[in-house]
Amino acid sequence: ENLNVAIVGATGAVGTKILEKLLERKFPANSIKLLASKRSAGLEISAGGQTYIVEETVPESFEGVDIAFFSAGGSISQKFAHEAVKRGTVVIDNTSAFRMDENIPLVVPEVNPQTLEQHSGIIANPNCSTIQMVAALQPIKEKFGIKRIIVSTYQAVSGAGAEAIDELDQQSTQFSERAHIKAELLPSASAERHYPIAFNAIPQIDLFDESGYTLEELKMMNETKKIFGDQEMAVTATCVRLPVVTGHSESVYIETGDENATVADIRAAMENAPGVVVQDDPSAQLYPMPLFAEGKDEVFVGRIRKDPKHPGGFHMWIVSDNLLKGAALNSVQIAEELIK
Ligand code: A2P
Repeated sequence: ENLNVAIVGATGAVGTKILEKLLERKFPANSIKLLASKRSAGLEISAGGQTYIVEETVPESFEGVDIAFFSAGGSISQKFAHEAVKRGTVVIDNTSAFRMDENIPLVVPEVNPQTLEQHSGIIANPNCSTIQMVAALQPIKEKFGIKRIIVSTYQAVSGAGAEAIDELDQQSTQFSERAHIKAELLPSASAERHYPIAFNAIPQIDLFDESGYTLEELKMMNETKKIFGDQEMAVTATCVRLPVVTGHSESVYIETGDENATVADIRAAMENAPGVVVQDDPSAQLYPMPLFAEGKDEVFVGRIRKDPKHPGGFHMWIVSDNLLKGAALNSVQIAEELIK
């Protein structure tokens, strides 16, 4: 109770939502310190009837801070997370910096809250696409087991940060004005080439590995096995960026461990899962869409079908707000679980 909280990357797409969720969920914070780069120092942010002044992130920022949420990119986490831990702060890190570190729990509270007990200062928040998938699949794994997952994603630009939203916005105007489309950021700031995202689909999120997979795909594959605690599970991903502002969609194929499982069984398991909402009625054209998932806390599932050939195989469509359950909400839920 009465915790001193900090948000690193408070001016960013996710940082802004973390502040919103802390206030909305009445997190027992005594103080909330907003940290960003030097560029933003002095900036005023109003939320919940209060005005906060953004400060530059320096090692001393963490003196007296109990919990710090990091969402300013992997290099900032690498630079400051240990400085924070040294000062007694518990870090909940939204970047990929520590996720695959054996000694750092990678947590989705509905799936593996027990792993929180072993933390030694840093807790990793999984990749946005991973979180919504494992949250939706957890009840199926529990009841029937899951042997294989093949996922293709349809990811929103906000997952690449506030600047990517601006890029889509500007390119949309350039497109409608028949002007030259300027691409400077996506698919990845550090990539050699940039392609327009407006009216396009880019099958590259983050950089390529020598395996031919992108780092985003490898994150989904590796993180899913770590969170489920099952290194034998076969998981493969294809990650695609779409001109959607917020809300990631996923076409997911699973092979369960039960050849007799029915669509009704799968649906019932998911309907009873915390944070999961089944929206699945083809006769009423009811299925999840990112436009309607934006701003919502839940993970939405629809289009649940049996594979025509593979007994125990199912296809489905999973959608969630990538900035909320995919990032800010999950981070705040981790903090809530910690102080329980
Ligand atoms: P700033 O606005 O001062 O650049 P997004 O994910 O939307 O791209 O946001 C990235 C966040 O990371 C922003 O809040 C940004 O702050 C922050 N950030 C970028 N560079 C640094 C840095 N060197 N130190 C602290 N925060 C940083």
